Formats: sequence, C-alpha cells, structure tokens
Amino acid sequence: MCGIIGYVGGADKAVEVILDGLTKLEYRGYDSAGIAIIENGKLFVEKKSGRLENLKSVIRTDKESHLGIGHTRWATHGVPTDVNAHPHVSFNNKVAVVHNGIIENYATIKEQLRAEGVCFTSDTDTEVIAHLYAKLFDGDPVTTMVALKKKMRGTYALGIVNSDDPERIVCARKEGPLIIGLGEDKNFIASDVPAILKYTRDVIFLDDDEIAVIEKDKVSVYDAEGRLIEKESKKIEWDMDQASKAGYPHFMLKEIEEEPAVVEKTLGIYVNPKGDVDFGETFGKIDFEKIEQIDIVACGTAYYAGLQGEYFLKKNAGLKTAVEIASEFRYSDPFVDQKHLVIFISQSGETLDSIMALKTAREKGAKTLAIANVLGSTITREADMALYTLAGPEISVASTKAYTAQVTMLYLLSLYVGLRRKAITKAQYDQRLDKIYVLSEYIGNVFFQKEKIKALAAEIREKEHAFYIGRGIDEKIAREGALKMKEISYVHAESFPGGELKHGTIALIEQGTPVVVIATQKDMVEKMLSNAKEVKARGAFVIVLTKKACKELEEVADRMIYIDDIDDMLAPLLAVTPMQLLAYYTACAKGLDVDKPRNLAKSVTVE
Ligand code: F6R
Repeated sequence: MCGIIGYVGGADKAVEVILDGLTKLEYRGYDSAGIAIIENGKLFVEKKSGRLENLKSVIRTDKESHLGIGHTRWATHGVPTDVNAHPHVSFNNKVAVVHNGIIENYATIKEQLRAEGVCFTSDTDTEVIAHLYAKLFDGDPVTTMVALKKKMRGTYALGIVNSDDPERIVCARKEGPLIIGLGEDKNFIASDVPAILKYTRDVIFLDDDEIAVIEKDKVSVYDAEGRLIEKESKKIEWDMDQASKAGYPHFMLKEIEEEPAVVEKTLGIYVNPKGDVDFGETFGKIDFEKIEQIDIVACGTAYYAGLQGEYFLKKNAGLKTAVEIASEFRYSDPFVDQKHLVIFISQSGETLDSIMALKTAREKGAKTLAIANVLGSTITREADMALYTLAGPEISVASTKAYTAQVTMLYLLSLYVGLRRKAITKAQYDQRLDKIYVLSEYIGNVFFQKEKIKALAAEIREKEHAFYIGRGIDEKIAREGALKMKEISYVHAESFPGGELKHGTIALIEQGTPVVVIATQKDMVEKMLSNAKEVKARGAFVIVLTKKACKELEEVADRMIYIDDIDDMLAPLLAVTPMQLLAYYTACAKGLDVDKPRNLAKSVTVE
C-alpha cells in the first residue's frame, strides 16, 4: 500500500534518491506516483497515474535539489489519476504532503477550509493536510505538526516539505508505518527498509503519535505534544541481495524456491543443539498451564497459516484454539481475557487490521504474541512478545515463503506449548519434532515437477473459474491455493470443504471447469475420491494433489501432482508449494504482472 520516501542531503541528488526509493517501494502495490522537491527555494511537484515509469519519463533526474519527498499511491479516496496522486500541494504552493492512511474527518475539514476560501483540486482526503499545514505554519514545524495532529482524526504516516522551511522534512505517524534512515550528511524517511537500504542500515522506527524533523545532519523526534524524546536506532542485518531477483524472472518464483532454506533456517534458529524448540526468553512471563485458549488473528495468507496453526495447537498442545480474521475481530465482541494468549501473524507486521485487533486484545487483558517477518515492525513493538519468522524480505505481493515460515513456526510453537502443558510426552514431542526435518528436502523435490505444473497451468489459463476442495487441514490448503490463483492470475477461484460443493456450487461445474482436489490426509482419501467423482461426473477437469502413497485417486484424475510421503500433520507445509507454483505459472502463461498484481498491496496499511 502507499509508499513514502523522503531525502535531505548535502549533494543535490534528491530526484535520483527519491526515484530510486520509489522503485524499491513499488512492491507494496500502487496505482500512481509523485515527487516534490525544493528547487531554488521553490516547490516543484510532478505526479503521474499508472506505473512509476510514467513519472520517470517526465521528470529530469539532473534537477538540482537537496531535499524532497516521493510517494506511490494505492487509491482509497478518489480514482487513480494524475490529480489525485500525491504529493498534494497547499493553496499557496509552498507545502507538499505525502500520506499513507485515511483522514476520517477530512470532509468536515474540507468544508471549513472551503468556507475560508480554499479551493480543492483533488478528490482525496490527503489534500486537506497540505492546506491545513500551510494555514497553521508558525515558523516551527514541530508546533505546526502538533496543531495539525490535533485537527485530524484517522490514520497516517506523513511526510511534509515546505518552501518556507526549506532545510527540513517534518513527518508524523499514527498507525501507519514510517521509519527514519540515518546517513552521513543525509537522512531519510521511508515506509519501509528496502527504500533506503542502499544508503544506510541505521534506522529509527517511529512510534504512534511521534513527530520527527529530518535535517541533513540531524534528526529530532518529539512526542505528540512536541516534547523532544530520545529514540534508539536499530541496525538492519539483511542486505539488498536478498531483495533482488538474483536471475529469477520474478520475485515470486525466487521466493517459492527459497522455501526449503526458510524451513532450514527456522529449524536452525529455533531448535537448539540439544534438539529442543527454543524461543529464548520470549515466553519468560507465560505459564502455559494457565492459558485456557489461544486465539490466532491475521489477514489473508497469514490467516490461512493461522488455520494450520489451530490444527497443530489442538493436536500437539491440547489447547482450545480459535482463528479470526483481523478485520472482523474488533466487531465480533471477542471473548478474550488474561487467560487467553492471542497470536497475531503478519508478514509485514504493518497490516492495520491486525494492529487494531492487537490493541483490542490488549485492552481486554489478553497476552499478545506477534509472529512477524519484518524486523521492528509495528506489530512486534505493540505485542507483549514477538517471534520473528526468518523468511527474509518478501517482495512479491503474493505471500509464499512467509506462509511456509509462519506454518513452520506454528508447528514448533505447538510442540513447545504441548510439552509445557504436558499435553504430549517428551517422547511424542521428540518424535513429532524429528518428522519436520525431511521437510526442506521434500519441498525441494516439488521443484522437479515444475515443468509438469507449468504445462498444467497452460491448460487452465483460459478458464474463468476454478474450484479447490479438501477436507480437514487440506481444506485450509485449498483456501490458500485458491487465494494464490485469484490474486495473481485473476482466475476466479474458490475453495470448499470436500463435501460442501454439492450443496450448491456444483451447479457451476461445466465441461472442463478445473477442480483441484487436495487429498494429503490418508484417512480422507476415500472420501475425497467420492467428491472427485462427483465433479468429474459433471465434466470437471480434475487435478489431484496427493502423496505418492495415495495412488487411488489416479483413477479419477485428469492430472496428478504428487508430494512426498510426509507425515499427515506436516502435509500442509509441503502441499502448499505446488499450489503456489500452479498459480505462478498460470499468471505467467497469461502474461500478467506476477509480482505486482492489479489492485493489490503488499502491506495493507488502511482498515
Ligand atoms: C496474499 C497476501 C495477503 C497477506 C495479507 C496479510 O498472498 O499476501 O493476503 O497475507 O494482506 O499481510 P501480512 O501478513 O503482512 O499481515
């Protein structure tokens, strides 16, 4: 979702640095882009709808400027046009604003400003910020920002430049991600690390309601009332190589192929040399025997990882577990209290729905644990405890390796909790932990079927609909498989429990409609065979995903995809990879922009 970059430096390189930053932010998802610089003491703004290339084609990179801001916009208020793109400029042409979030009371502010004679040019909520800041400016960016914040309701990460204050960028955050990069004779603001990693590894994570003023050789952070505060910087350990395609045609394929390494890394870090799951000091304060329920809250793919986690926690930890969609959590009058551990799963750690749900759970007294991939992300700072998945930067919008890391982590967590709650014996714990060691090799074996999956993708690329069915935990993989297919290939794909299709949706099966039958659980194979026959009898093109040991389904399948004979409980971790590849190759076969699917954002920072 919207990406922000800002630069103040000694050399006149603002345009170059900002365009480079915007390129690195593209993966977040956007539909227009813009830039504002101070050039010879005056504001210069350029913005274009569509791809960043459109902006790059009209702006000269040799323009001299030491300071500026840039933005990739993911439209919320107002369609994606040049006019609605950020930065937005004040009535006096002095202030430019980039914003990620939604100003909820913008209509009221707009009316007031209109009554004072301000003309609006865009349909956005953001434009009010530019006019208001210009009206409120008293020579001090901090007091101005304090006053501005008091007038706005909603969420924001903001970067503001002002030609009347040409040596500084002022920024503020409220439930929108914003970091400050500390360089030598140059400093930055950005929505996330990749935008500035080329220039610095030293980063300050701005917290909610904080304000910062960025100068060439100084960064000052203030609280909501404008009092100066001390902030520690953090060192980013990963580097840009991990965020490059490294010869792959798309980030998505690279990231899928990193899954074996992600599993190994997770096991290497979270299983100690004695062979025990080891989360260090993370759970110091928790007595798992006193926890009555675990709730898992997340969105999208992370939610589907949570559904696998529910199964693990029930089986391995004997714990009542509920999984909820983060955006619904607050409205479901959640019954959580101090006897509940609520786990928030998020790749980005910045999904606003998950952050808001976390706040709700915390207010109700629950213990909160974040499982996130991005170091220092908001969720990890807001939760009582945090565990990092070690997937490395995930750039493709469609989440793949992060899912694998999340599910691996949940499996380890379920064993860890199970042992402490005495739900499983040490022998069962050892045995179940041992079983995961084949996983990375088995995922690697899936890649030997890439050509076969690619050929299958070519067969289904013209289809309008596809259905995915499974029972038990296979139904959860079906959901993730269908989501991957929809989001990158735009084939309408839905998932159902194996027995459910015939209660209505089977009416949609026509000659050649692809139905992906997932049957990795031994005791479900017969039932899935029946379900496969039901759809086959109505003309479906049946694609079966099962283990090598389950040949029975061959009799009904038009195409087979096999995974190795892993333990049933771990099959979801293995079965997801061919589903990801099927979606990937279908999108490629359709010539689509795999890594940046239309309308989607990597980090969903609005509710
Ligand atoms: C799907 C996908 C999304 C995310 C969801 C949550 O491929 O990437 O469904 O899983 O937006 O994002 P995070 O995990 O960053 O909270």
